[in-house]
Amino acid sequence: MEWNWNYVIWSALICLISLVWSLRKNSYRRSKLPPGPKGWPLFGNLFDLGSLPHRSLEALKQDYGPVVWLDLGSVKTMVLLSAAPVEELFKSHDLSFINRITNDAMRSHDYYQSSIAFGPYSVYWRTLRRICTSELFANKRLNETMMNRQKSVDEMLLWIQKEAERGTSGIIVRHYVFPALFNMIGNVTLSQDLVDPQSKTSSDFGIALDGFHQCLGRPNISDLLPWLRRFDLQGIRRKMDQDLGKCLEIISVFVKERVKQRQLQESSQQRQLQESSQQDFLDVLLDYRGSGNDEPAKLSEFQVTIFLMEMFIAGTDTTSSTTEWALSELLQNPEQMKRVKAEISSVVGANKQLKESDTDKLHYLQAIVDETLRLHPPAPILLPRKAVRETNFMGYTIPKDTQVLINNWAIGRDKDLWEDPLSFKPERFLDSKINYKGQNYEFLPFGAGRRICPGLPLAHRMVPLVLGSLLHHFEWELCDGVKTIDMRETLGSASKKLELLRAVPKRKMT
Ligand code: HEM
Repeated sequence: MEWNWNYVIWSALICLISLVWSLRKNSYRRSKLPPGPKGWPLFGNLFDLGSLPHRSLEALKQDYGPVVWLDLGSVKTMVLLSAAPVEELFKSHDLSFINRITNDAMRSHDYYQSSIAFGPYSVYWRTLRRICTSELFANKRLNETMMNRQKSVDEMLLWIQKEAERGTSGIIVRHYVFPALFNMIGNVTLSQDLVDPQSKTSSDFGIALDGFHQCLGRPNISDLLPWLRRFDLQGIRRKMDQDLGKCLEIISVFVKERVKQRQLQESSQQRQLQESSQQDFLDVLLDYRGSGNDEPAKLSEFQVTIFLMEMFIAGTDTTSSTTEWALSELLQNPEQMKRVKAEISSVVGANKQLKESDTDKLHYLQAIVDETLRLHPPAPILLPRKAVRETNFMGYTIPKDTQVLINNWAIGRDKDLWEDPLSFKPERFLDSKINYKGQNYEFLPFGAGRRICPGLPLAHRMVPLVLGSLLHHFEWELCDGVKTIDMRETLGSASKKLELLRAVPKRKMT
């Protein structure tokens, strides 16, 4: 065979130059990125995450500082581990990092496109946020729906009272608190109770929602190595298609029924009467009309269905796990338990029912909720953000589409920010100016910036109402033979107790 040596030499030279250039380019880019551990070829730092990423990521701070770079498969990721970079992000770069990461599970039924929580920053998202702040979670609307929430609490107290009367040796607290909070959301959104702990009614919805949560929270190889997406190796996409499909089917029945009802009423005068009386979230969403300026003219039935479903997803696991953690902490801290019960009795009256309107005066109860959210935030890592554009952040050049993880859990336990950070001390919040409304970067259980949790004003009412009512109506004890409570957590789409709290409710208030 004849060799064309000129050709060979030139090809080899070109290869060598491109190799050196690409190595230099990579090391130049690397030098502009935050520091981080070396990863494996292809998989990057995937194996460093573990089953509780908030814990594994916290450990990186010691070696790499508060801003860390990871390659999670093909997903470029910046992790923030202390309050200072988080403050810088929310104060100076909120808009640059305002998008969310869309994972494969969210593509099921095109869910993310109509989602407020996972949808991109867009006119549609801004419209939903405006409806949330000016209509759904405004003080006036929340005051109007107060009785709905009270009704759900009364039911929960009755369920537990029955158990107490029959001398139960212990109940799984979540099995009573979760349906009550679920019904609260059901009552403010659809004006209906949807579940009770015994009945099978709507248990399909509960099961499907649980499956949905798991699919959303489980690490999926299809997200980390997108070229494997079409094989759906863990079957997460298939399961999501099923569970999300079921949830949508159930909620869409309520939406369709209401649409039909309203059409019937439209022809009569009842509609006008109803408009002036109390409206639930579903009415508000169906009544929405855009005011031009690119806003959608109205919301489609599918969009309304997704929105309502998200209220259940975002509003039930978070609030019920906070209540369960708080009660677990109190059961291990008898002095605090005594103090909060004394506060409730003196403000509400020993024989009176605790009302939502009392909770503003219950400062110690509120401090207990704060302290619980500091130590056990339902979102230990805030919902991941995504860089809209290449951004200069604290001297680093962060490429477009980088995922940003904010380790809320680690910041809440940072010993440089909190005295004796691992102890449960509600007293620290009593005379403190620190609150969870998104301005104090050492304490962000609801997030901050434009994507802060829009349900905060509702959660602020729901959790103290449910927790305070449980404490006021029952004496709580650990089950026979139990000395300490297992305080380990597990992670789905929200963090909750690994071992559900089992405790004994005693003696209803007389
Ligand atoms: C203890 C209770 C709750 C906690 C700790 C909590 C926490 C959070 C957090 C950390 C985020 C992400 C914020 C960010 O990216 O900066 C979020 C988003 C969200 N939350 Fe909550 N939440 C709670 C209750 C609720 C309730 C009751 C609702 C509604 C009924 C709700 C609806 C939402 C929605 C729709 C989003 C997505 C917002 C967006 O991406 O624009 N949450 N929540």
